[in-house]
Amino acid sequence: MTRESESGLPIDPVHGPDALDGWDPAEKLGAPGAYPFTRGVYPTMYTGRPWTMRQYAGFGTAAESNARYKQLIANGTMGLSVAFDLPTQMGHDSDAPLASGEVGKVGVAIDSIDDMRVLFGGIPLDKVSTSMTINAPAAPLLLLYQLVAEEQGVPADRLTGTIQNDVLKEYIARGTYIFPPKPSLRLIADIFKYCRDEIPKWNTISISGYHMAEAGATPAQEIAFTLADGVEYVRTAVAAGMDVDDFAPRLSFFFVARTTLLEEVAKFRAARRIWARVMREEFGAKNPKSLMLRFHTQTAGVQLTAQQPEVNLVRVAVQGLAAVLGGTQSLHTNSFDEAIALPTDKSARLALRTQQVLAYETDVTATVDPFAGSYAVERMTDDVEAAVVALMLQVEEMGGAVDAIERGFQKDEIERSAYRVALETDSAERVVVGVNRFQLDEEEPYEPLRVDPAIEAQQAARLARLRAERDQGAVDAALAELRQAAGGTDNVLHPMKDALRARATVGEVCDALREVWGTYVPTDAF
Ligand code: 3HC
Repeated sequence: MTRESESGLPIDPVHGPDALDGWDPAEKLGAPGAYPFTRGVYPTMYTGRPWTMRQYAGFGTAAESNARYKQLIANGTMGLSVAFDLPTQMGHDSDAPLASGEVGKVGVAIDSIDDMRVLFGGIPLDKVSTSMTINAPAAPLLLLYQLVAEEQGVPADRLTGTIQNDVLKEYIARGTYIFPPKPSLRLIADIFKYCRDEIPKWNTISISGYHMAEAGATPAQEIAFTLADGVEYVRTAVAAGMDVDDFAPRLSFFFVARTTLLEEVAKFRAARRIWARVMREEFGAKNPKSLMLRFHTQTAGVQLTAQQPEVNLVRVAVQGLAAVLGGTQSLHTNSFDEAIALPTDKSARLALRTQQVLAYETDVTATVDPFAGSYAVERMTDDVEAAVVALMLQVEEMGGAVDAIERGFQKDEIERSAYRVALETDSAERVVVGVNRFQLDEEEPYEPLRVDPAIEAQQAARLARLRAERDQGAVDAALAELRQAAGGTDNVLHPMKDALRARATVGEVCDALREVWGTYVPTDAF
């Protein structure tokens, strides 16, 4: 009996040598750290250095988040990953009417350099790499980070980290877009150029399939739509006059890891192979680093359950293992209580401990790409690759990722998959332990972490103080320069940095750009 994978591909109950008929390891695999990078981007992979344990965290005020980062570092986290609240992600200050009720809820509230200074207080920015999940306002947040580093005496060329900066997937699945696609892409090209010249070790974008997967995308859809977005970014930067090898080494990716371990491993391996080929054949990239698909992974939040939440610890361990066997560079393991609320100190620590068990108590770091040559996994890698390539071609035929977005293609496809999964779950054809099978008659009570609603008033008071203290003339002049650059072709990041240094807020900077570029209104149809 043949079963179907999450991507709808057949899985034979027994795979034998015939699964790999005509399969050439030299062509399909290569050596680890060499084209087509199926086996991983580094020759030694985890035998040389384990993946970065990078736990996404942030809530409430900058001071509370700073305390959580220090605790994570003390517990052995290897890189920071900042979660911003929704107003910050939408480029609104904490005292804006639209921010009401959301300040500090799903991440930390950052309005100005004053908050950013507190967020990284006592954390040496030359020693830690920091990822910031920020998209439409990626430029002001990156510049605030650089300004705080300057205050710490750390030069920009020593900064390492990543901004998500992937607006195309916001239109498809995540929703925190501000500007229409054209100026958004121009801003992204400005960021690529700025980082090439000023912050060369910074990963300028994290092209993300994670949120598409959370919205319901199958593994093949997740990879296809993400790589198609990647192609659009590369085309944009090349059209803006950049040499592909000047920016491609700093592109990075972000995917999900589900509990379907074998298909996930195949997915990661297929993604690396396709990206290497696209970069070499379509864009003529020569630097091997331009061909390497380096990625962060987060375990699948959508697979966590509010029922019997401790079972999530088991799910996360399997998902984390899938990411590691698939060769991830950086990993976030979800906390077991995240289907209910923000993680508590204890659950955040347990999540990190899960990675530490994988890294230090198992043998998966002892050998590179241990599934290579497996009949089942190599067959699946080829099958996922073919499905991804077919979907990428469909996007191409529509004129590329932006045109397909404007037709609602990716969103429609993802919603169809989500609907199928919902039907299967409701009918219990798809087993979810503790939800549609093996339920408890009565769930045990659980006390979640709650964010103090007083934070909103505190942030508003901080902003009032900032506006009273700063040199308003300098702020107005800098924002005028920013508007002028946005209306022309000069890189907007330089005047933006001046404005932020003069204590303009993130909301004011984004408002200045909104005035010139307008905002995006989706063309949704159901
Ligand atoms: N041999 C030799 N060198 C090695 C090595 C090995 N085996 N392993 C690592 N290294 C080197 C690398 O070459 C690199 O040095 P370089 O920069 O000089 O080349 C250094 O060690 C660091 O290694 P990586 O670059 O592999 O790992 P990082 O952790 O620094 O970077 C990344 C990983 C994926 C490239 C980066 O973009 C990253 O950290 N991403 C994280 C993104 C993230 O955290 N996102 C959170 C999203 S949450 C979200 O979206 C919220 C919600 O909506 C879900």
